[in-house]
Amino acid sequence: MRNKIIAGNWKMNKDLNESVELINGLKAKLATLPKGVQAIICPPYISLAQAKDLLKGSPIELGAQNMYHEDEGAFTGEISPKMLKSAGCKYVILGHSERRQYFGDTDASINTKVKKALTSGLIPIICVGETLQEREKNITNQVITTQVKGCLKDISAADIEKSIIAYEPVWAIGTGKVATPQQAQDVHKLIRGLLTQLYGSATAEKVVTQYGGSVKPDNAKELLHQPDIDGALVGGACLKADSFAAIVQAAE
Ligand code: PGA
Repeated sequence: MRNKIIAGNWKMNKDLNESVELINGLKAKLATLPKGVQAIICPPYISLAQAKDLLKGSPIELGAQNMYHEDEGAFTGEISPKMLKSAGCKYVILGHSERRQYFGDTDASINTKVKKALTSGLIPIICVGETLQEREKNITNQVITTQVKGCLKDISAADIEKSIIAYEPVWAIGTGKVATPQQAQDVHKLIRGLLTQLYGSATAEKVVTQYGGSVKPDNAKELLHQPDIDGALVGGACLKADSFAAIVQAAE
């Protein structure tokens, strides 16, 4: 049985004081988690060390929204996996569609980061998803296949078992336009099939896959109970303790 994993991607929201307020709210609402459910928050870099301290004794885990693929050096403005680990991160989101769209991330550069995350002991949350144009052209399956194969190139079965794959249709991110449970399940099934092709079914059955794109308390339950959907990557609704906690509870 795969755990259900709910991750909150704060994106570029919440300054230090606001982060403290949100984390304290979450700690109060999620003092214990439903059995088989994990909750992760991914605040901006500057809030991570503080979040690590605030989350001591809480079941809520910590992740980052991106990283660079080197441990240290002359890479102005970048953050390394080593730094993320020292700030208490266990997870890192890689290849989010906003990074692909605005910051030039490609399947190849994401693959490099995935490998580095894994050798550094971080669990990557690897994001894939088609644009509206691609869905309308009926090439969703091709796009997802290319992204999954590109991002997972030369990743071993032992490593993929630890990793998380997030399917986030770009047209559903931040738009309030959620994929139907069937649309989401269809792509998750495709991803499970690709993992089976690449690694065999025993391994494929172990990989946690999340859906992301306008997940809210009122649509979470149905999405989270599709056979191949094992969690959610939540943007907007993770910025309020009430709504993130409600999504975590819906995973039970
Ligand atoms: P959203 O964002 O929940 O605001 O649509 C999801 C994401 O980008 O991870």
